[in-house]
Amino acid sequence: MPLKRALILLGPPGAGKGTQAKRIAQRCSVPHLSTGDMLREAVTKGTELGRMAGPVMARGELVPDDLIMRLIEERLKRADCSEGFVFDGFPRTLPQAEQLDRILERSGFGKPIVIDLRVNPEVLVRRLSGRWTCSVGGEIYNVHDAPPKVAGICDRDGGKLVQRPDDRPEVVKERLATYERQTKPLAEYYERRGVLDTVDAAASVEAVERELEEVLKRAERRDGHL
Ligand code: AP5
Repeated sequence: MPLKRALILLGPPGAGKGTQAKRIAQRCSVPHLSTGDMLREAVTKGTELGRMAGPVMARGELVPDDLIMRLIEERLKRADCSEGFVFDGFPRTLPQAEQLDRILERSGFGKPIVIDLRVNPEVLVRRLSGRWTCSVGGEIYNVHDAPPKVAGICDRDGGKLVQRPDDRPEVVKERLATYERQTKPLAEYYERRGVLDTVDAAASVEAVERELEEVLKRAERRDGHL
């Protein structure tokens, strides 16, 4: 199922964007573009971007649009983005969405597929408090619902599992408030453009995956390609 455009997964922190984006990108053989992962890498490496973004992320706020757009424009120039890509955590503000539209149009990609993963806040807090991520390959686990076979160790590559510093309860609260204020309005923006689908993301990982597949099949039937 080759993806020939941008797929955008919207949704609050903990909705399962990363979990599902990795699966879709793998199935469609396109890159998974997570601005959160890119920023965390910059923080770990101590680059100039990382030094600017780190304190903002630690507070649960959004990194300035111009830094994010520079990051995305650079990433989209790479050869693996010539066909299609899955965005996870981007765009996150109206200016980012408007600029992305212009980039996609300029590059001949046309309209994206946008899917909003909807989940209520109590579920999100439980998911984020239980998340552990592989420090090597980025595989995502959850001690409540999807634990690794051996505690603290990745099933796939044996990497050490770590918790994100912004999953502390006080930062999660701020991230959810930031989402309500700055990112939730994007659903309306894409709905007006006629490209929005929604999925009940409170269901199991496998059920959400099946629903997302259905949305993609519908888009393929409607447009003659994915
Ligand atoms: P980012 O890394 O994008 O974090 P986020 O949007 O807060 O999303 P999360 O990664 O927390 O959640 P997710 O939806 O991916 O859920 P996941 O699949 O991991 O951003 C981090 C920070 O970077 C931001 O706060 C901001 O500062 C900055 N930033 C990033 N992008 C930016 C941008 N564009 N502009 C400005 N700033 C930006 O799942 C969560 C847990 O739930 C896991 O344990 C998983 O196993 C479990 N789970 C998933 N699905 C299910 C399910 N269906 N049932 C049960 N459990 C599930």
